[in-house]
Amino acid sequence: MEARPLRIGDITLRKPVFQGGMGIGISLSGLAGAVAREGGAGTISAAQIGFMEEDFDENPLKANLRAMKKELEKARKLAQGGTVGFNIMVAMNHYEAYVKRAAEIGADFIVSGAGLPVDLPELVKSYSIKIAPIVSTEKSVHVLLRYWAKKFNRIPDFLVIEGPKAGGHLGFTREQLEKFHPTIYRAEVGKIMEKVREFEEQFARKIPVVLGGGISGRGQSEEAFSMGADAIQVASRFVTTEECDAAQAYKQTYIAAGKEDIVLVKSPVGMPGRAIRNSFLERVERGERIPPSRCRGCLKKCKPMEIPYCITEALIHAAKGEVDDALLFCGADAHKIHKVETVKSVIEELMG
Ligand SMILES: Cc1cc2nc3c(=O)[nH]c(=O)nc-3n(C[C@H](O)[C@H](O)[C@H](O)COP(=O)(O)O)c2cc1C
Repeated sequence: MEARPLRIGDITLRKPVFQGGMGIGISLSGLAGAVAREGGAGTISAAQIGFMEEDFDENPLKANLRAMKKELEKARKLAQGGTVGFNIMVAMNHYEAYVKRAAEIGADFIVSGAGLPVDLPELVKSYSIKIAPIVSTEKSVHVLLRYWAKKFNRIPDFLVIEGPKAGGHLGFTREQLEKFHPTIYRAEVGKIMEKVREFEEQFARKIPVVLGGGISGRGQSEEAFSMGADAIQVASRFVTTEECDAAQAYKQTYIAAGKEDIVLVKSPVGMPGRAIRNSFLERVERGERIPPSRCRGCLKKCKPMEIPYCITEALIHAAKGEVDDALLFCGADAHKIHKVETVKSVIEELMG
């Protein structure tokens, strides 16, 4: 397989690989900058990105907006002219402020999921930043693209399809996750592609499609391109790279995990997620409530008094390497990872 460079407007990726955004604190400037330097697209996760800032507990929004700029600047230095953007989740409180910040500070793109980014075009209308929604089903792509076309007369600059084997929060119900076996999901991807083609025709412009979720080796990468993808999105494989911003203890949990350790969890975000079973998850499964030490107002919809645990605190524990108290997000194929590698070697293996 010969990986062809991908053009998205005035951006050219030498390697058609997007590194998936990973919050909290897993894909920051270190990983995103390294992927961009190797010719892929590096994605900084904006989710509670300011968790290391001194004023994070008192004013998380201010700390996050400041950290976005710092991380983008650091990533740009590492990237040597490569492409760097942000992953910003729709479910986040102050979503609009994060989107505007990414555009103002000159990121190359915004990828936005965990909900449908219905107003994203409006928020960035005076900027040249590229925008891409994350979709998982034909229904979601149909609803979103039709809405953008009618309301804003525009289509996405590219589109990310995230399949059922992805990590983090998943854009499926539990029932859909049971239904979508690989062959059935393949057919769904075909339907999404057909929908995309309709809008390409309507606007006489190509919408590059990025396919992700469970791409852990050359075989899956080739399969994605054979299904018509223009690029792949990969996250879990990058967690155990030397350059990844995750703590060493977090990387080791991936290396030690077996297939049976990877489970679906119910997240306070209201979507299923995928994570590595650990003592934290065992406590949650037993019905124990782990109350937040304080509420930082991270989600638009959250009832702090009712949730089993605080997603921000559980993910910050992960970012800090406090793995026994952490929610350890991972993709379904994370158990196939057995060593720490470099970003360069992962990209070479995936792309040839
Ligand atoms: C540790 C981890 C954290 C993630 N965090 C986010 C996130 O904050 N926002 C998001 O849209 N997707 C998130 N994802 C999903 C990835 O961006 C990606 O699309 C998906 O995991 C790809 O599948 P793979 O991990 O099998 O390569 C996360 C995935 C992982 C493994």
